[in-house]
Amino acid sequence: MKRSITAFILSALLLLASCSGASGETASDSSQGEEQIEIGMSFDSFVIERWQRDRDVFVSTAKELGATVNVQNANGDIEKQKEQIEYFINKGVDVIVIVCIDSESLREQVEKARNAGIKIIAYDRLITDSNVDLYITFDNYMVGQLMAEAFLRNGLQGGKVLMLGGSPTDNNVPLVEAGFRDVCAKYRMEIVDSIHCDGWRAEIAGDYIYSHPETVADVDAIMCGNDNLAGQVIQALSVQRLAGEIPVVGQDADLEACQRIVEGTQTMTVYKPFERLAKRAAECAIALARGEELTGDDITTINDGSFDIPYIGLDPIAVTAENMDEVIINSGFHLKEDVYLYAR
Ligand code: BGC
Repeated sequence: MKRSITAFILSALLLLASCSGASGETASDSSQGEEQIEIGMSFDSFVIERWQRDRDVFVSTAKELGATVNVQNANGDIEKQKEQIEYFINKGVDVIVIVCIDSESLREQVEKARNAGIKIIAYDRLITDSNVDLYITFDNYMVGQLMAEAFLRNGLQGGKVLMLGGSPTDNNVPLVEAGFRDVCAKYRMEIVDSIHCDGWRAEIAGDYIYSHPETVADVDAIMCGNDNLAGQVIQALSVQRLAGEIPVVGQDADLEACQRIVEGTQTMTVYKPFERLAKRAAECAIALARGEELTGDDITTINDGSFDIPYIGLDPIAVTAENMDEVIINSGFHLKEDVYLYAR
């Protein structure tokens, strides 16, 4: 009797199990449970507006594709970034995505990750000589070209320009500057002075304007490494009643930069479709985690200083007051009422 009751309970349990097994939800739950892809992401910082968008789109795309993402903020501290990568390695994640603070300082960590079978994506900024699994960014050389071309369109051929660049440890910076310099050289625009802002600290660019009044009075245009720098520069210019008098360019299409452009104190910015970058990076992270080859027309190779590595370089777009609506508003990047907030 006891045995038959046990047999009954057992078969009832089996029946229950097979019923729930037939439902798609439970089946996929268990298979996902076993194979859940884990991605670790280490950002330089979130001071600049764009990085929050990069993070949000990356995380939501990766989640849709069945992965979990652990996001860490290194707050501009390279030692902290190294610790975060070590933490991800110890945790045994499948892929680590890095917006590096210093393009030359993470070789050891990348090597360790590789030895642990973890894939590495250099996001937006190259990690040099490290043989990462993917470097995905915008065409930084083109960003610089677009900046110089904006000056040309303002009739500055043969003029004098000032170059206030970004962090000297960010490999994007020399690329942007090379593009800028090449166009300047071609059209005889003289770069009268240039500096770099450590850690992308915008106050360094602003301070330059205050402390070099003669140079500022002498130049026809100012190139800023990004919109955050441009913001400080324009504020400093406005104190000297020069805002809107000297063309200033930046990059990122930060909301405030777009506002300045339609108000007339900034000449142009470079819009980089961050959503596309983040989405594509997330797709590639999943493929790499599954051990798949990266495929797509956008994938080429680039040399990182020592190795040829897979590369995706998206095109940036120059934005001025003329195409603000077409590029920024129509794409949904910023809302029209936000961009034209003070310009009415
Ligand atoms: C990015 C820029 C950004 C800057 C500061 C660069 O590497 O390309 O878009 O403004 O870093 O975060």
